[in-house]
Amino acid sequence: MSERVLVIVPTYNEVENLEPILDRLRHSVPEAHALVVDDASPDGTGDLAEKLAARDDRVHVLHRSAKQGLGRAYVAGFRWGRENGYDVLVEMDADGSHAPEQLPDLLAALRTADLVLGSRYVPGGGVTDWPIHRLLLSRAGNRYTRWALRLPLSDATGGYRAARTELIERLPFDDVASQGYCFQVDWAWRAVRSGARVVEVPITFAERRFGRSKMSGSIVREALVRVTVWGLRDRLADWLPGLARRPVPARAGHREAGQHE
Ligand code: GDD
Ligand code: MN
Repeated sequence: MSERVLVIVPTYNEVENLEPILDRLRHSVPEAHALVVDDASPDGTGDLAEKLAARDDRVHVLHRSAKQGLGRAYVAGFRWGRENGYDVLVEMDADGSHAPEQLPDLLAALRTADLVLGSRYVPGGGVTDWPIHRLLLSRAGNRYTRWALRLPLSDATGGYRAARTELIERLPFDDVASQGYCFQVDWAWRAVRSGARVVEVPITFAERRFGRSKMSGSIVREALVRVTVWGLRDRLADWLPGLARRPVPARAGHREAGQHE
């Protein structure tokens, strides 16, 4: 029996990118379904998604009324995937940065894992065409995250992932407030701490050709502040156990975090 895979694609102004990415997905993993989560993009991405969904019953659309950030778009997509009985939930950018051709690698690794992170910073992974400031920011962000949260992952901020729905059901998502890419850090950390089997597989991240990144100074600041607060609270909790950051389901002794740099 094959598993039902849902690829969640959040969009905000991705009208040039949506059709090509769904076509590539169709070629590389034909049986996968896609869910476009559009935050009322002014450029008409939501209407295009409807058109694409009308001619392919493997494509679904979730419309949200306003731009509410990547974290909330994914939480809504996860809920939709759970309600509709998918076994595997995948996160993938719409802009072509995450190659659908590499999805089979992620899905293969998921056979013996609960969460697979596409990683730019393990051997074999990489980034093409990113401006140097963006690469430095990402490298530094990942190093800091690893240290502050004692998180044994090389790329905890990345947004190309595959997870078993059971894992997502076990993790508390209701209190996810993170808007930007720290949402990714947040739930990777929760997964590792819950004792889930988390592995990293190499991916090549390619800079988008059309449209613009939604990354902003406020997203970076949010990540820096939140990761610092979580890290401090986590260290304090070593001394004062009552202060644990938030309850996570315990399943100790079952941990296989990703490779190190
Ligand atoms: N629905 C919705 N709402 N989608 C959004 C929003 C939002 O508020 N903000 C961004 N997106 C969508 C974009 O349309 C795109 O499909 C995807 O999320 C990634 O956004 P980008 O703006 O292209 O992100 P990036 O390329 O700068 O950042 C990438 O690298 C980060 C780590 O360095 C992404 O992969 C991030 O997820 C990742 O954390
Ligand atoms: Mn991008």
